[in-house]
Amino acid sequence: MENMRLLEIREAEKKSHMEMYSGAELFEPGSWLQKPVKTVLDLFPLFTEHKELRVLDLGCGVGRNSIPIAKEFRTIPVTLECVDILELAIDKLYMNARQHDVEDNIQGTVSAIEDYPIVTDGYDMIMAISALEHIDSKESFENKLFEIRNGLRNKGVVCLILNSNVEEYDKESGEKLSPQFEVNLPTECLELLLHKVFAGFEVIKETTRQQQYDIPREQGMVSLTTDVVTFVARKNSE
Ligand SMILES: C[S@@+](CC[C@H](N)C(=O)[O-])C[C@H]1O[C@@H](n2cnc3c(N)ncnc32)[C@H](O)[C@@H]1O
Repeated sequence: MENMRLLEIREAEKKSHMEMYSGAELFEPGSWLQKPVKTVLDLFPLFTEHKELRVLDLGCGVGRNSIPIAKEFRTIPVTLECVDILELAIDKLYMNARQHDVEDNIQGTVSAIEDYPIVTDGYDMIMAISALEHIDSKESFENKLFEIRNGLRNKGVVCLILNSNVEEYDKESGEKLSPQFEVNLPTECLELLLHKVFAGFEVIKETTRQQQYDIPREQGMVSLTTDVVTFVARKNSE
């Protein structure tokens, strides 16, 4: 992707995420932050025998998924490393962590995912919920997937929700627009790539759901169609 287009997308995303985070509080009924992602909650039983838990949340936002994990496992040493490109997200993450009494368990960092080095063999779970498609290029995206694989301990779980095959149309004119996503792979390519990178992992959940929704963009309302790919798998290196 050329540099100008990347800057344009990043600026527009920053604006829309700032509006989203300023307009709703964490777990506010009726808002998109109302509850954690069910796929994440469904993974809790996998960790009940753990004596310690280390989790990485890439593109964490304000803690919608990390804070419930910190609360659920508060009786064991649990650390959530939370990374987001937006300073406002990390500020609110810390505010929310204080409110939920888990601030000692949360380590927030303002960084682009592509610039954040993932420690090898460091985590019991690495999640990226609607975030990896905002990495700056397809090459960095692929590299990050391999880093995630290597970053997991034995029995560690990768939990990804990704948009693919995104199309955007101007609501009024019907004109096809360039989608506001840095990485927009055809769904089949994404699925093949995930299976290549996580070969040998036990697949726990894999679904692809088509979604359509209207979204405000700078130039007006846009109709967006996407394949939402959910991929959860566990490392089995023994
Ligand atoms: C749709 S939100 C999802 C937030 C969170 N995962 C959740 O489920 O509530 C995407 C988040 O990714 C962040 N983000 C976008 N591009 C990023 C990048 N390149 N590096 C780090 N974070 C990024 C945004 O600031 C935003 O907070």
